[in-house]
Amino acid sequence: MAFERILVTGAGGQIGSEFVPFISEIFGRERIIPSDIKSNQANPRFISLDVTDKSSVDLAIDKYRIDTIFHLAAILSATGEKNPELAYRVNISGMYNILESAIKNKVGLVLTPSSIGVFGPDTPKENVPIETITRPVTMYGVSKLMAEQLGNYYHSRFGLNARGLRFPGLISYKTPPGGGTTDYSVEMIIEAVKGRNYKCFLKEDSKLPMMYMPDALDSLLRLAEAEDSRLKHRTDFNITSFSITPKQLELELRNYFPSFGVTYEPDFRQAIADSWPGSIDASAAKQEWDFHPNYGLKETAEDMILNLRKNIPSNIIKRS
Ligand code: NAD
Ligand code: SER
Repeated sequence: MAFERILVTGAGGQIGSEFVPFISEIFGRERIIPSDIKSNQANPRFISLDVTDKSSVDLAIDKYRIDTIFHLAAILSATGEKNPELAYRVNISGMYNILESAIKNKVGLVLTPSSIGVFGPDTPKENVPIETITRPVTMYGVSKLMAEQLGNYYHSRFGLNARGLRFPGLISYKTPPGGGTTDYSVEMIIEAVKGRNYKCFLKEDSKLPMMYMPDALDSLLRLAEAEDSRLKHRTDFNITSFSITPKQLELELRNYFPSFGVTYEPDFRQAIADSWPGSIDASAAKQEWDFHPNYGLKETAEDMILNLRKNIPSNIIKRS
């Protein structure tokens, strides 16, 4: 059984803050238990939950009779390089606690996003398949790879319905990204809308795969609802919408803001970007659960600008 009582961890983050309203519309608000280590006074249903605290995780899953978990709590790549120990605890121990408790409480589905961070400098650069060389050089990548493998292990050993997909960089305007290497894309669009120039922390030719948030939300739901019999993969589906360099985004934005300019001053995040592929192959997701992105670069920029022109949320600030 699934989708009767849904726990979302990391619900205050870039994805969770949009995923909770998205699934509340579909399944009903009363079925969703949003949780995060940080509180949310605006939503009385929000519970405080630290995924590294095993007994609290157990207690919450039991108390709310959870049958489905969207496990979004994580430390992203740039923050993870500043604090690898924290990334290890949240991304690996947190995942372990969720999986252990899911078995104990007979949870029907655990879906955990993974990332292009699982790839490393030895991975081919273009159209990378799911099964390839995965030797990440960041704690984020190491921990996300471990989380994928833990999910596979709990499926094969205990029959847990663990699923996951590797997101590319996500672009959105409601909640700031959580300290990742692809955050430049969101920052650049916001600065352009504000009428300011942007100092980019990646080189102008750093090509990375990207996706607009509506396609990310749709993908999480499609994978969650996919027929089990169709799945040949479980926790490591590659998904992507388009690949861009910072320069391509700058040029796209100049169509709307002709005087917009970017300077390129790479920092420690350049080494992370250099270790990731420029494009990945999402054909398994298309075949096994009908992954279907709708937004390319043009549509993403257009929609971001339209919405940011109406309102630039005050919390949209750099977190890394
Ligand atoms: P985010 O950083 O915006 O949000 C993560 C949330 O987890 C935050 O609200 C944070 O408070 C919470 N959190 C941190 N430590 C916690 C703990 N100990 N217990 C409970 N909550 C804790 O990240 P996001 O972008 O929303 O990412 C969600 C998932 O998607 C992660 O697994 C991430 O690796 C993956 N992902 C994101 C992107 C992206 O571009 N946003 C790309 C690839 C993969
Ligand atoms: N956007 C994420 C990051 O840069 C990719 O997982 O960390």
